[in-house]
Amino acid sequence: MQKNQIFSSSSSKSSNIPSQFDILVIGSGAAGLYAALRLPAHLQVGLITKDTVKAGSSNWAQGGIAAAIDPSDTAHLHFEDTIKAGAGLCEPEAVQFLVENGSEAIASLLELGVSFDRHGEKLTMTLEAAHSRPRVLHSADTTGRAIVDTLAQQVLERKNIQIISQAFALSLWLNESTGNCQGISLLYQEQIIWIRSSAVILATGGGGQIFSQTTNPTVSTGDGIALAWRAGALMRDLEFFQFHPTALTIPGAPRFLISEAVRGEGAHLVDCQGQRFAFNYHPQGELAPRDVVSRAIFTHLQKTKPEPYCVYLDLQPIEAQKIRYRFPNIIKVCQQWGIDVFTQPIPVSPAAHYWMGGIVTDLDSSTSIGGLYAIGETASTGVHGANRLASNSLLECIVFAVQLSQIAVKPQVNAGDDNGYQSLPVRKKHKDWSHEMEKINSIRQKLPKLMWHSAGICRSQAILEEAIAQLNIWRSQLADLDVIQCLLKATPNQTVQLSSNQAQQQLKLAAETLNLTDMGYLILKSAAWRTESRGGHYRSDYPQTSADWQFHTLIQGDDWLQSTKVIHQAIQLS
Ligand code: FAD
Ligand code: SIN
Repeated sequence: MQKNQIFSSSSSKSSNIPSQFDILVIGSGAAGLYAALRLPAHLQVGLITKDTVKAGSSNWAQGGIAAAIDPSDTAHLHFEDTIKAGAGLCEPEAVQFLVENGSEAIASLLELGVSFDRHGEKLTMTLEAAHSRPRVLHSADTTGRAIVDTLAQQVLERKNIQIISQAFALSLWLNESTGNCQGISLLYQEQIIWIRSSAVILATGGGGQIFSQTTNPTVSTGDGIALAWRAGALMRDLEFFQFHPTALTIPGAPRFLISEAVRGEGAHLVDCQGQRFAFNYHPQGELAPRDVVSRAIFTHLQKTKPEPYCVYLDLQPIEAQKIRYRFPNIIKVCQQWGIDVFTQPIPVSPAAHYWMGGIVTDLDSSTSIGGLYAIGETASTGVHGANRLASNSLLECIVFAVQLSQIAVKPQVNAGDDNGYQSLPVRKKHKDWSHEMEKINSIRQKLPKLMWHSAGICRSQAILEEAIAQLNIWRSQLADLDVIQCLLKATPNQTVQLSSNQAQQQLKLAAETLNLTDMGYLILKSAAWRTESRGGHYRSDYPQTSADWQFHTLIQGDDWLQSTKVIHQAIQLS
C-alpha cells in the first residue's frame, strides 16, 4: 500500500510543501486525525501540526470515552447527565446530537481497530463523576493513546493526506472581498509561508498552558482560538474552564493527571490527617461534579493550610489486582516519583484541565467565518455548557469530526487570480530579535502564574480587574516588539525568510506568548463580565448561580454580548 508523505522541518531546509490544498486541517489530536480520515477521499488534505503528530491532549487522555451503549443505559440518560453537568448552558440540540451519535462513533473506532478493554467479549465500562451509569469505555488508563495510535496509523495509510509536522499555524488568511477563510500563514522550515485552501479546519485543542497549574501538554496554548478571534470569528463562554481535582502534586514533577476513573473505581480523597472530606462539601462526595470536587479541595486546603499544600488520593479501597489492570500507567508514573500507589496515598491538587469555551460552531462544525470550521476542544459546539461531563470530549471530537464528511468545498481559485496574491512571493528579511526575547520570556513565565492566581478556581472582581490591567500592559508591550509585528503584519505576497533555526524558535515562542496573552485577556474579561457562579466559573463575590445569567457570553473582536436565553425545552431522543 502506498504510504503518504510526512513533511517535517528537519527533513530539508527549503520549503517543499505544496502551496495549496483542498483542505487544511490544523492539529493532529483525536479531532484533527479523525476529521482528516472522514473528509472525502478525493480531496487533497494537508494535516498541519506544530509538534510531532501525537503531541496533543488526546494522546494523554486517560479515563476514557463516554457513550450510552450498555443495555442498562440510554441516550436519554446520557443526555440528562450532560445537561445537568453543563449547569444550564448546554445547547440541547448539540447534546442530543452528541449522545445519539455516541454508539456509532464507538462502532467506527472499533472498526478502525481501537482496542477498548473487554470482559470476555463484552466491552467494559467504568463510572466517572456525575454519570448516572458506568458508560466510560477505556483502554486501561491510556485510552487516548489507543485512539490516537490507531487514527494516526490510518492517516499514514491514506494517499490523499499529507502530514506536515513541526509546522506552526500563525494566522488565518481571509479573502479581502468575501471575508471567507482561504488558507493560513505557516511558520515552517525557517520561513513564514502562505498556504491556500478552500477550507480550513481548526482542531488545535485547548489552552491549559494559560494557567501555571495544568494537566495539559505544552502544545495546548489556545492557538486556534486566538487565530480565529483575531480573524473576527464569534467566540463563546471563554470564562468556563474546567479544573480537574486530582493532578499529581510533587515538587518538580509535572502535573500528571490522576484519572477520575480512580475515584470511579472507589479511591478516597483524604486530607493530611487521613480524613475523608469530600462528603462535607457535597452529598456525592468524591464523585460530585468536577468543579464541586475541585472547589472542595481548594477550600479544604485554604482551611487546613497543610504542608505540603495538597490532599491525597487513597487507592487502598480498590483491589490490588484491579489497580494493576486498570491503572498501569498511573502506577508507573507514580513509581517514577517515589510513590507506591498500593501502599501510599497519591499527593494531588486541582489543575486547569479543559476549556469549555471556544469558537462558536454549528452542528456541521462551521464557524461564523465562511470556509472556517472548528472541531474538538477548540470549538464551542454547545455540548459542554458551563462544565463538561467527564469523558464527553473525546466523544465530541469524533462525533463532530464526522460532520466534515459532508463538507461542501468550492473549487480552488488559481494562485495569482486572487486579490493581492502574487504567485511569485517576495522574500522579506527580518531584524535580529534576540534582544526582544527577554521581554517575551518574562511574560511567558509570569502570565500563567497571574492567570492561576486571578482566574483559577476562585475569582473575584478586584483581582480580575488588577489582572486585566496587567494583561493590558503586557499586550501593549508585545505589540511594540518587532518579532510580534513580523507575524501580525506578514502579508500573503511576502514569504518571510528567517535567518536561522534560532529565529524560528524565537518567532514560535513569540506567537505562542501572543496567543496566551490574548486568550488570558479574553478569559479575564469574560470572568469579570459574568457576575455569578456557574459550572467552571466560580466568583467568591457572586457565589450563587443567577437565572439572570442563563446566557452564553459571546465575544466578537472587542465586543462582549449576551446570547439569547438558553432554554432547555423537552427534546425527543431517538
Ligand atoms: P489535541 O488532542 O490537544 O490536539 C491539538 C493539536 O493541535 C495538536 O496536534 C497540536 O500540536 C496542534 N496545534 C495546536 N496549535 C497549533 C498551531 N498553532 N499550529 C499547528 N498545530 C497546532 N477527555 C475525555 O473525553 N476522556 C479522557 O479520558 C480525557 N482525559 C484527559 C487527560 C488529560 C491529561 C488531558 C490533558 C485531557 C483529557 N481529556 C479527556 C480531554 C481530551 O483529551 C481533550 O479535550 C481532547 O483530546 C482534545 O482533542 P483535540 O483533538 O481537540 O486536541
Ligand atoms: C480523567 O481521566 O479523569 C479525565 C477524563 C476527562 O477529562 O474527561
